[in-house]
Amino acid sequence: MKATFSSSGHSGGMNQMHKYQMSAMQKSEKGYFLAVFLTKRYAFFMFMLNFDAKLRFLLYFCKCFYRKGNMAQTERGNFASKMGVILATAGSAVGLGNVWRFPYMTGENGGAVFIFIYFVCVLLLGIPCMISEFIIGRHAQANTARAFSKMAGGTPWAVIGYMGVLTGFLITGYYAVVSGWCVHYVWSSLLGHLSGEPEYFKSFFADFTAHPFKPLFWLVVIMLMTYLIVENGVRNGIERASKILMPLLFVLLLIIVVVSCMLPGADAGINFLLKPDWNAINSDVFLSALGQSFYSMSIAMGCICTYASYFSRQTNLANSAIQIGIIDSMVAVLAGLMIFPAAFSVGVSPDSGPSLIFITLPNVFQQAFASVPMVGYIISLMFYSLLTLAALTSLMSLVEVSTAFCQEEMHISRKKATFLVVAAASIIGMFCSLSLSGYDGLQVLGRSLFDIFDFVTGQIFLPVVGFLTCIFIGWFVPHHIVRDEFTNFGTLRGTYFHFYVFLVKYVCPLCILFIFLHQFGLI
Ligand code: TRP
Repeated sequence: MKATFSSSGHSGGMNQMHKYQMSAMQKSEKGYFLAVFLTKRYAFFMFMLNFDAKLRFLLYFCKCFYRKGNMAQTERGNFASKMGVILATAGSAVGLGNVWRFPYMTGENGGAVFIFIYFVCVLLLGIPCMISEFIIGRHAQANTARAFSKMAGGTPWAVIGYMGVLTGFLITGYYAVVSGWCVHYVWSSLLGHLSGEPEYFKSFFADFTAHPFKPLFWLVVIMLMTYLIVENGVRNGIERASKILMPLLFVLLLIIVVVSCMLPGADAGINFLLKPDWNAINSDVFLSALGQSFYSMSIAMGCICTYASYFSRQTNLANSAIQIGIIDSMVAVLAGLMIFPAAFSVGVSPDSGPSLIFITLPNVFQQAFASVPMVGYIISLMFYSLLTLAALTSLMSLVEVSTAFCQEEMHISRKKATFLVVAAASIIGMFCSLSLSGYDGLQVLGRSLFDIFDFVTGQIFLPVVGFLTCIFIGWFVPHHIVRDEFTNFGTLRGTYFHFYVFLVKYVCPLCILFIFLHQFGLI
């Protein structure tokens, strides 16, 4: 149209113009092509540049992502070494129960025969239950509540995880009270206050626990120690502390065992502990051994599951559980060899529970080493340090259960989470402690809050959570997940896998059920 109009009206000038236009057009076409060419080259150049930039960006992004992934992993934390795994988990298992409960039960229930039955219980109940918690924790790589939720896939089984965390949390406060007493006794032995007549030790303990503030102070001290360890994370806090504290505990234990067994008349104590008495065996003995093995391995409180979430994929779960079972049992037997020879050599009959370690034993140590200056002092200082170490490593694992839960569910820093847990557990512990100092407001149905916590967590929550965990792993979780975790995705032979599944499916739930019914006198 334009050309027709121009050619019809203004032809002469038009031609000029046309030429001009044409040449201009040609020029501009050239220019255009040049421009296009250049632009294309530029674009290509730019594209290349961009490509490079893009690639670099992509690489950078991948790196960040990878680093973030790694950071997320290290933020969750994991144990750096196999030794760390064993020592930290054994630290959770080795606790006051090994010292104040196992030796007495052994002496009362047939000595070596009881130890043999106990080992069988650890093998058939403790270790399989521990492996089950390992499997859940390591598979889910999350705190206990989330671990169960993940594996339960929206079914009500998720409740077990929450119950585990709650049990762990409730027991923290109560366990911290007794742990605080241990620190107080370290301090008192250091100051040389633990010497006097037998009656003195009774009143020393009674006065201390009846005091409204002293136990609270020591409770805060042990909780602060736990806080300082746990807030540093899994590797720098828990693992590092366990690698120092556990060997120290073994050394102290061995020294006291050797000294105690060298006392005159120590054989009577060794006999009492280790002489097999077949007549003492009855169904009660079996059930006591079962209950003790379960309690001693720290099962059903979320601790084992939480620690397992920090295990590497290479950790051999079954072997680790066996090693921890052996360490835990060994410490329990050695604790017996530390207590009984000394007690028998001075003719004091040992008992169990808090009165054994806080009333009977200071007296025993003092009398046994009365003739040699300083030895009684050193031994009692070593003994309470050992107890404090055992309590502290267990307390760390208890605090870690709720810390991991708060950190991951409330999306807060580890420091904040640890502080929150330690503060809340200390408040519960304070109430428990006050209930023991005779404060009437804290008595329910004639029982102190302390006893109620002990009863509810130890005798109800513990067996219920343990029972449900076995049923969950044995009957609900897909078999291939259990096998993959047990054999590290087929890289281990898993010789005992079928035996383990059989135990978890049938033997463990039945045993736990028996313990549960027995403690309520129903069978
Ligand atoms: N195993 C501890 C002991 O022998 C007691 C205990 C039971 C425990 N469950 C726990 C300790 C959980 C720490 C965490 O004394």
